[in-house]
Parts: sequence; C-alpha cells; structure tokens
Amino acid sequence: MARIFSGIQPSGELHIGNYLGAVKNWVQLQATHPGAIYCVVDYHAITGAYDPAVLRARRWGMAKSLLAAGIDPVLSALFMQSDVPEHTELSWIFTTITPLGDLERQTQFKDKSSKMESIPAGLLMYPVLQSADILLYRADRVPVGEDQIQHLELARDTARKWNAKFGVEYFPEPKPLLTPARRIMGLDGNAKMSKSLGNTIGLLESDEEIWQKLRPAVTDPQRVRKSDPGRPDVCNIYQLHKAFSVESTQEHVAEQCRTAGWGCMDCKKVLLEGMVQELTPIRRRSEALDAEPARVLDALADGARAARGIAQETLGEVREVMGLNAVAVPTG
Ligand code: TRP
Repeated sequence: MARIFSGIQPSGELHIGNYLGAVKNWVQLQATHPGAIYCVVDYHAITGAYDPAVLRARRWGMAKSLLAAGIDPVLSALFMQSDVPEHTELSWIFTTITPLGDLERQTQFKDKSSKMESIPAGLLMYPVLQSADILLYRADRVPVGEDQIQHLELARDTARKWNAKFGVEYFPEPKPLLTPARRIMGLDGNAKMSKSLGNTIGLLESDEEIWQKLRPAVTDPQRVRKSDPGRPDVCNIYQLHKAFSVESTQEHVAEQCRTAGWGCMDCKKVLLEGMVQELTPIRRRSEALDAEPARVLDALADGARAARGIAQETLGEVREVMGLNAVAVPTG
C-alpha cells in the first residue's frame, strides 16, 4: 500500500487556508491510509531571521491545531522534524548528489533570495531537506498544495539519481496528491491566504471573530450595488462556500448572487453558518487540548518514536549501500 508523508511549517495555529489547502486532506486520508506520517518541519522554519520564543510558540500551536483538526495519533504518526535527526543526516547525503543548478532554479528560492542581501545556504538547500523528509520514509504519496509540485519533482529526481548511482531500486519516486480544494485566496482577494499577509481566518477563532473578518471581506469587485448581478465564479466568498457549505446551499447561493436576489451580506451570513458547523468541533477539541497539554506532548513523543523506527532502518540501509557502515579490514 502507498505510504503517505507530508510536512507543514510551524506557522502557529492553522488558518482556513492551510486547513483547506492541505490538512483537511491529511485528515481524510487517515481512513484509507493508516500509518500516514505527518511532520511539523521546524528545521525548515529557520532559514530566515526568526525569534526562538516565537518559533517555540508556533511549533506548539501547529502541533495542537493539527490534533484539533483531526489528525489522530492512533492512526498516524505526528512529530517534530527536529526530534528525528535522520532527516538532517539523509539531507546531507542528498546534497552530495543534487546539482547546484537544480536548486538555483527553484521558484521559491528565486523569489525569496531576490529580496535578500546575504542568502543563507540553508535557503538553497531547503528542497534537499524536503526530499530527505519524504524519502526517509520511502513515501510514495505526498498530499500537498500546488505550490509544492516543483519541490516534489526534485524529490523524484533525487530518488532516481541515488538509485542509479548505487545500482539499487531503493527509493520510490514520490508523487503529489493534490488537494481537491483550489488555492484559497486571502480575504483581501489579492493574494494566497497566508498568516504573514494577515488575510486569514484562524481555525480556532470564535464565531464572532470569524464574522468580524467575513463582514469586510472582498467579493466580486464588479458588484458595487446590491442590485448589480454578481459572478459567483470570480467571488472569493463563493469559493469558501464550496469548501464549507453543503451542495444544495452552494447552488442556492450562486443563484441568488447571479440574480441579485441576495446582497453579499446575506451570502456571508449563510457562509458563517457553514463555517461554524465545521469549525466548532475543532475549536472544542483545541480547548480540551489546552486543558490537557500532556496529550499533545504524548502524541508527539509517540509519533517521533514511530517515525524514528522507520528512519533508522532507512539510514542503516542507505549507509550500507554507500559504504558508510561498520569499519571492516579490507580483504583481498
Ligand atoms: N515546503 C513545504 C511547504 O512549505 C513544507 C514541507 C517540508 C513538506 N517538507 C515537506 C511538504 C515534505 C511535504 C513533504 O508547505
């Protein structure tokens, strides 16, 4: 059976963008793929300037909200990347077979490094560590959003190259499992939803807080007056209906928008109902974890132990193939 691996940056509590873009899919995959491996990639989060206290809080917030969102530590291994040192070990090995040009061509590297005066080598190596994350578990399916396709291509190249160089069919070529939900735009309607842009709704926010953010959110820019017919297909709020409302509601909302039967506020109120429906149980679970933080720590410890078992096995085999195992007197 396919082995699932995925990783997420420790950006603090989840918001509806990374929930719909990836994590909801992770949760659903657990039913068909017990033994999935999900990792909070803290070593990936230190390639730029950061405050250790903030990182500490964000690792916690991410681990807690993944559990609240429905990652079940009985079905899956959830752990912190830096708790399993084999990630960085395999990453070093992969740097020795990765062409520099392939790394310099990565769009994410080009975007980020173009704004920097001094570029940390770790930023360039970011996708090598990502390949190691995946291949360490010989995972072949990686549920991610579209923006990770290029990084996964590199992971496949790395698997192929290592196998060819050492003449073994060891690493499978991991393929992306794209999330059915499209890229979720921020509430400003301008850019992808992201915490650093402040255009998100947190997964754990109260109904009232959600409404305060939905109310001013951008809709179809051509719909100026309530009497103007709207275009659901270009409206960001309609995209959210597709994620949070049942199908019959989606159809009704679209019809009311096109015929200017409803104004945007009416539409947003119905969206709020759908969001409250889905997010309330998540918020409840998060409150329970706040009251009993040891459950988060236990889940991470169990997850790291399970992950490490597989990781050590892989590293042992890799070192053996590469001539890095026990010291032996050369014979002959
Ligand atoms: N680069 C991914 C992101 O920014 C996070 C990540 C790190 C990842 N390692 C991974 C995703 C391995 C999937 C598999 O979202």
